[in-house]
Amino acid sequence: MKVLNFGSLNLDYTYQVETILVPGETQASKGRQIFCGGKGLNQSIALAKAGIPVYHAGMIGEEGDVLLETCRENGVNTEFIRKIDGPSGHTIIQVDKDGQNCILLFGGSNRSITKEFADEVLDAFDSGDMILLQNEINELDYIIDRAYEKGMMIILNPSPYDDGLKKCDLGKVSLFLVNEIEGYQITGEKEPDRILEKIREIYPKAKVVLTLGGNGSVYQDETGAVHRQGIYKVKAVDTTAAGDTFTGYFISSLIDGLPVQEGLKLAAKASAIAVSRAGATASIPLREEVLNSDL
Ligand code: RIB
Repeated sequence: MKVLNFGSLNLDYTYQVETILVPGETQASKGRQIFCGGKGLNQSIALAKAGIPVYHAGMIGEEGDVLLETCRENGVNTEFIRKIDGPSGHTIIQVDKDGQNCILLFGGSNRSITKEFADEVLDAFDSGDMILLQNEINELDYIIDRAYEKGMMIILNPSPYDDGLKKCDLGKVSLFLVNEIEGYQITGEKEPDRILEKIREIYPKAKVVLTLGGNGSVYQDETGAVHRQGIYKVKAVDTTAAGDTFTGYFISSLIDGLPVQEGLKLAAKASAIAVSRAGATASIPLREEVLNSDL
């Protein structure tokens, strides 16, 4: 089975601030770093660091070589990453003194996916292969339909949630990884157990992982059986990519055939380590570090 992640690659312009800005406020930042990120790239790197061979497909722009380099350094297959004219995707991220962030996204090259390119990529994959998707690239509805036709297993992290997702046939998704906000946006429910019930009602064939911030995570299978996992407490430096780390590590556990509870635990540990470090891809730990950590 091959694993394809068709997703974004971003340059994260990350500013350290005392507090996240409010409307009309001007504040001098304490510093700026440029990190490699993007939900797609972060999840590919998390898979690779967890030991899973992964193909990343996506588009970078003129200043995006460092994104390609990061993939290569971490063992992500780059055969399906194309460089095009114009700017790469980028973000402006504020990280406050407690490690909380807010992210302004500019799609750039991530929004230049064509149907032809999607077909070219998907032609290299087959029934039984896995495709992981987020919502930072265009043509998501087309990619989902084509991957489903091929018989690929579709995993979706519908983040950031927006109206574009309404065009997608989410009934074709085998596994959702959502946080409470996305869960609300999909179901209209706020309470975690209600979100899970509603997802099962709307998408009866799907499994779901609902992440609950400080309250951990819950996995639900098609039968409604649930597994719950708490968080590992660490001093938060930067929460960027914590969710992506969780996603990559949880998927790695499925591929490795670990019991669900162990997979949730592994993912929770990996994301706690990511929270304790600055940056997106740079904060994601290697599997060995996760297994040997004192958490
Ligand atoms: O999930 C974190 C990521 O979201 C950041 O790396 C940023 O690029 C945005 O896509």
